[in-house]
Order: sequence, then structure tokens, then C-alpha cells
Amino acid sequence: MLVFRDNSTLQNHLKNLKNNNKIIGFVPTMGALHNGHLSLVKKSIFQNDLTVVSIFINPTQFDDKTDLEDYPVNIDEDLRLIGEISNDIIVYVPKANDVYGNIVKSENFDLGGLDLVMEGEKREGHFQGVATVVTHFLKTFSPDHAYFGEKDFQQLLIISHITRSLKLKTKVVGCPTIRESNGLAMSSRN
Ligand code: PAF
Repeated sequence: MLVFRDNSTLQNHLKNLKNNNKIIGFVPTMGALHNGHLSLVKKSIFQNDLTVVSIFINPTQFDDKTDLEDYPVNIDEDLRLIGEISNDIIVYVPKANDVYGNIVKSENFDLGGLDLVMEGEKREGHFQGVATVVTHFLKTFSPDHAYFGEKDFQQLLIISHITRSLKLKTKVVGCPTIRESNGLAMSSRN
């Protein structure tokens, strides 16, 4: 497993692979991985020559500071779980300034109003933050496929919308929700 902590070395590495016509899958996460995330990683491994997993707790998608501070972090365990699936995976664990530069701020996308209803009504700016970080990754690494859980269905619709409107080349792939034995959808917050 290769772990990159900065964008430029990862970009160089991917450039070489793309020159060799490798198909690249991307699984963005905020860490605290569970079987839901791991199912996305497995699907990506199955459908691509190479899989990149990002682990980045994106500050701009937290409307509540305490929620950000309390978000679970366990990188060593995350790397162990990924390594159990395959060692032929690239993991990107950036710091906020590698993603945002000096100004950690969301963009203001036209999300077709999809960001203003349901969860977006209660979490102001949340989906702009998600769209900002995801489009940043997709523009920077230009993966062929990117994988998102249907558990966060509104997020999946918004990301599909923004990739279409920005004409990004990445195909967004929605994946079924993975549940605990009692039926609860798996989540890092459980
Ligand atoms: O679903 C998540 O974990 C996050 O919203 C994502 C897509 C990794 C963006 O930070």
C-alpha cells in the first residue's frame, strides 16, 4: 500500500499510471472506516486497475464546530482495514492546506436547489462543502470512477449533478447501503 500525504506526489504517481492506460477508481472517505466504506473499496478494486482511497475530514462540510471536533479519527486502524482488502491500493491522507491552500472555504456551486432541502435545510452549507472537496479531488486526480454510498442519497444526487454540470470525466457510481445485523445503516457516527 502506498500512502501519500501531498497532492503533487500523488498526481505525479497517477500521471504515470494513466500514461499506461490504467483505469483508476476513487473512494473518498472521512476515515473511521466500516464495512460500508470497505464495500465501496472492494467494488472499486473489482471495476478498476487501481484504487485510490482518500481519508480527509473535510472541515467545510461541518456546519457545527463541535461535530467536527468530535468526529472519530483512527488512521492506523483505517490503514489496517484497507490493507486487509489489498496492498495494491493508494491511500491519500492530506492536511487541510494540501486541499484548500491557505483559505479553508467552500465554493458556491449551483447545486440546482438539491442542497437546500431535507438534510440541507438543517445543515447550512454542508452540501457546498461536500461538493467543494469532491470536485477538487475529481479535478485533481481525474479518476475514471468515483464511488459513493446510497446511504447518503442526497449527497449522491448532488455529486452526480455537479459532475454533470462541470462536465467532469469521472463516472459517479452509487453503491448499496450496508447494514448492521439489526438493520441500522452502517455509519462512522454510529
Ligand atoms: O460521505 C462522506 O464521507 C463525505 O461527505 C465525503 C464524500 C468523503 C466528502 O468529504
